Amino acid sequence: MDKIVVRGGRRLRGAVQISGSKNAALPIMAAALLGDNPSRLTNVPRVTDITTMADILTSLGARVDRPSPHEVVIDPGGLGNSTAPYELVRRMRASICVLGPLLGALGRARISLPGGCAIGNRPIDLHLKGMKQLGAAVNLSHGFVVADGKRMRGTDVFLGGRFGSSVLATANVLMAAVKTKGVTRIEGAACEPEVVDVAQFLRKMGARIEGMGSPSLVVEGVKSLRGTAYELIPDRIEAGTYMIAAAITGGNLALKGCRADHLRAVIETLEEAGVCIHGGARMIRVSGGGRRRVVDVTTHPYPGFPTDLQAQLMALMTISPGISVITEKVFAERFMHVPELNRMAACISLEGSSAIVKGVRALSGAPVMASDLRASAALILAGLVARGETVVDRVYHIDRGYEDIVGKLRNVGAEIERAG
Ligand code: UD1
Repeated sequence: MDKIVVRGGRRLRGAVQISGSKNAALPIMAAALLGDNPSRLTNVPRVTDITTMADILTSLGARVDRPSPHEVVIDPGGLGNSTAPYELVRRMRASICVLGPLLGALGRARISLPGGCAIGNRPIDLHLKGMKQLGAAVNLSHGFVVADGKRMRGTDVFLGGRFGSSVLATANVLMAAVKTKGVTRIEGAACEPEVVDVAQFLRKMGARIEGMGSPSLVVEGVKSLRGTAYELIPDRIEAGTYMIAAAITGGNLALKGCRADHLRAVIETLEEAGVCIHGGARMIRVSGGGRRRVVDVTTHPYPGFPTDLQAQLMALMTISPGISVITEKVFAERFMHVPELNRMAACISLEGSSAIVKGVRALSGAPVMASDLRASAALILAGLVARGETVVDRVYHIDRGYEDIVGKLRNVGAEIERAG
């Protein structure tokens, strides 16, 4: 099984090209099923989650082509099968985002229940609640969600949950509503840039949606949607990860093709932590040479500090002088990286959904195990600054969401390689 080997101690310098957003690409690929003809997506990242989504769409009868490395063309013409099987869904929980498009396009869907994952119990109750409120008949049968959308009508849908809004439940209800007769008002909608991107794509297909980026979305159902060409937004989580890479190594990076306006909470937090950041229209410059400071951070839905950068920020805090408290409010159990960072001589203890991080003078390279996508990124970041060699195992997690992380880091001076 592939491993990533990092030897710490290099200051990163140079430019990194930020890829397109994986979390925007997944629901947008699914949304392409709603069109009467093909859609062409550009700035699609080359990561394995995209391949999984392509496999799911193909299994449903759509045709998916990749005419060039960052381009995907989806032709929904052959769509006919409404079942997303367990073999594919268990590879990626985000597969649930075909539920809305299948209801919108075929009026029925049968999706395997995804099961648990390393970052805790991840229910789909909000997705199902939204579809039921729209009038779909939803049942659980033999490990599948079986939904019949024949009676769907525009109505009021409330999507607020115990942990706040849900990104993919919002995208799902939106995708189910755009071709549903009548007006649907979604309250408690997620405001993440990826949800806005889904809505922009749907609008370009001819959907009528207002309120994008706010918790109240209004959708007026239309009879049909046409396929379209669309460029995805840059990946703010990948950008944030490289910002922290510059910070943790005391280096200097120019991040190309990213959007500072999607990263306000991250920029503010890193500035507080002593990092120097200049954000332009499509470029962010990060300089980590200054004095490090600890920060206390709580993750929140957008525009708050993203849970998807919690592990990476924690890696930075492990070598910042003082004590930092990092509280996880989105996925309360998302701390699988803590014991691994501690194996690298970090000093972190857990109290409920908070991690208390006591900064140490240096980390020590060690063999570590990746448990999920963002945890793997945190371990690589820690490896970049640790003394000696860090070997990260189970790197298929990182391949799910970071395009060529080894190549991008090597280009800016990291001593990192893949090993079989
Ligand atoms: C998306 C992102 C993921 C990110 C997360 C939060 C994709 C492909 N993935 O995941 O990277 O970490 O947003 O920003 O876009 N919840 C429920 N019931 C539900 C759905 C969610 O209780 O039906 C809870 C979750 O357990 C969690 C919170 O709501 O506590 C937010 O989860 P959600 O926004 O739904 O995450 P995803 O959309 O799955």
